Amino acid sequence: MKAIKTFLYAISIVSLAALHIQCKGNDKAEKEAVSTMEEAQKIAGVTIEKSAFGILPDGEQVEKYILKNSKGVEVSIITYGGIITSVKVPNKENLSEDIVLGYESLAQYTKSSPYFGAIIGRYGNRIAKGKFSLDGKEYDLAKNDGQNHLHGGSKGFDKVNWKAKESLFEDKASLKLSYLSKDLEEGYPGNLQTDVTYALNNNNELEVIYEATTDKKTVVNLTQHSYFNLSGDFSKKILDHELMINADAFIPVDNNLIPTGELEDVTDTPFDFRTAKLIGKDIEASNDQLKKGRGYDHSWVLNEQEKGMRFAASAYHQESGRLLEVFTTEPGVQLYTGNFLDGTLPAKGGGTYAKRTGFCLETQHYPDSPNQSNFPTVILNPDEKYTSKTIFKFSTK
Ligand code: GLA
Repeated sequence: MKAIKTFLYAISIVSLAALHIQCKGNDKAEKEAVSTMEEAQKIAGVTIEKSAFGILPDGEQVEKYILKNSKGVEVSIITYGGIITSVKVPNKENLSEDIVLGYESLAQYTKSSPYFGAIIGRYGNRIAKGKFSLDGKEYDLAKNDGQNHLHGGSKGFDKVNWKAKESLFEDKASLKLSYLSKDLEEGYPGNLQTDVTYALNNNNELEVIYEATTDKKTVVNLTQHSYFNLSGDFSKKILDHELMINADAFIPVDNNLIPTGELEDVTDTPFDFRTAKLIGKDIEASNDQLKKGRGYDHSWVLNEQEKGMRFAASAYHQESGRLLEVFTTEPGVQLYTGNFLDGTLPAKGGGTYAKRTGFCLETQHYPDSPNQSNFPTVILNPDEKYTSKTIFKFSTK
């Protein structure tokens, strides 16, 4: 009851402040209103801070937004690539530490990044030979992973500067990022208007909501490429994290990490995470699929797909007590265990990112779906709206 009252109070202050700005156009009134809004935000317990992060070679300004809640969680996002540059989460002793890999400066992100924290589009993961057909017409995509197309191409959504709009609603701090991808960008048909909203609430949930519309039939598969290391120490490997994936099957791949088209039962394989087990337990097992992926770099076929939003995966780091739970509306999740990290990229706070110092849980449709007729469709028609939602929930136990 108290929370509701406090909340209503906060909302009314925000509304009054907004009204105040509308009525009086002068600077002083605006300043007063802004500070009243800040007060209101404090009461609701969530805040958003904006600052300059850097300037791109073409002169465009990149902004950084920090979403904070009342439980000590802080999520930093930059407009370039919609990249989550840091996620600060308390451990079981209430010590807040950064649990996602990334860089300190914009120059490092633009120089070379293995998709650290970025929004991936138009297509998460690989499309074989960078080709697919729609209604008998073949489309040629950028080939940026050998002969294949990966994560949207040479300049995917991870490398564009998104328009940002922040808002506070109830106990949620949100940042809506928008980008219009032009017809035939990276080879994809249709002008695709994309919105990705990050929203942090006081329940320590970071929601990622993806929306897109097109003016021509096309394919879409958006995801988020954060690398987590729940220890808060980037010099440590993630092999000691206990992982759980709500999936009875996974998608085997060929030597180039393209799905073979089969769905394989996880029973009695290193891919069985239905009961929590350490990432490191079977990662070095002698297994053809692990060899092809150089570790885990596969999609899992999530259970209960008809349910919509449901539990997909969790990771628990015993020493820090940090637990990450992932819920999604998507049919699949790609687990990538940082197999290509090789100690050459500079880590935040010093040192470098060594192999397996981060893991990604990329909720998405299956790789290469446009060429695999037995996989759930990724086609988006002009009269439809693409929507997808994933929640990353942080807690300790
Ligand atoms: C995805 C891919 C991997 C790799 C990483 C980034 O997870 O499946 O093969 O490209 O992104 O390095």
